Amino acid sequence: MSSVKLPLKLHLLFSLDYFLTKACRRSNGTVNRRLHNLFDLKTSPSKTPRKGVSTSDTIINSSTNLWFRLYTPHSTNNEEKRNLPIIIYFHGGGFAFFSASSIVYDIWCRRLSNELQAVIVSVNYRLAPEHKFPSQYEDGFEALKFLDENFDRLSINANSGLCFLAGDSAGGNLAHHVSVKAGELTFSKLKIIGLIAIQPFFGGEERTEADFLHSKAPIMTLHFTDWYWKMFLPDGSDRDHPAANVFGHKSCTDISQVEFPETLLLTGGFDMLKNWQRRSFLDTLCL
Ligand SMILES: *[C@@H]1O[C@H](CO)[C@@H](O)[C@H](O)[C@H]1NC(C)=O
Ligand SMILES: *[C@@H]1O[C@H](CO)[C@@H](O)[C@H](O)[C@H]1NC(C)=O
Repeated sequence: MSSVKLPLKLHLLFSLDYFLTKACRRSNGTVNRRLHNLFDLKTSPSKTPRKGVSTSDTIINSSTNLWFRLYTPHSTNNEEKRNLPIIIYFHGGGFAFFSASSIVYDIWCRRLSNELQAVIVSVNYRLAPEHKFPSQYEDGFEALKFLDENFDRLSINANSGLCFLAGDSAGGNLAHHVSVKAGELTFSKLKIIGLIAIQPFFGGEERTEADFLHSKAPIMTLHFTDWYWKMFLPDGSDRDHPAANVFGHKSCTDISQVEFPETLLLTGGFDMLKNWQRRSFLDTLCL
């Protein structure tokens, strides 16, 4: 049951990613950044449109290397431009890997921008284990505040009333927590109307059926997810920490009291985390 039949090319790609990521994790709980940077290829922004989308980078806070890459679809009609939705995107990588300039995420965000005809703001946040919880959430929220306060100055060609928070894997977790915090405040420009969580990274001490059933699926293994949580969560905490187990007994945010946006959740059939993802979604619906 645990083995997944994948096309050969995809299988090789996943296996390569698995072994390279594994090689970057040192036994003393640090990440070999130099090694990871060798295969995590980066790309620069391009003013001239590529695949129908132009990009530019903006620094938010240089002391924390917080910045974002803006993806603007190349549209001819000015009226349409002003009505484009904005997707504030957080990349995945277990809070420990990748950046907003990683080629894999540049390709993905460019495609999202072109196919959805949306402006994408891809946030470059600090990484674990050098920076643990809550640095990533703080960065996400700081990016949101920066956009709100500087929206006109940045001359973003989009409708600030149509904002979505989105992310995959750890980025989905980040988008969730930033949404909760955003719901407690009123912004002057941005209106967050939706959350798009793509296989968001949630967890807990309990092992779900899917944890075991798909624990040998490519890329993610139980050993890997446990390692990511250990790198990210504060020393001495377990996986029932509210950052991981959002509706567990240690979680103190009553989401029914929060202005939480409508949520689109995408889960993967062979994802060992799917039960955690469904659970968080169903709990949201019940409230
Ligand atoms: C972990 O190991 C690496 C490589 O052996 C070393 O450079 C680094 O200083 C170590 N870090 C800690 C916190 O022990
Ligand atoms: C930049 O980040 C640092 C560290 O989190 C913070 O102390 C500082 O206030 C931030 N700067 C601005 C302009 O927000």
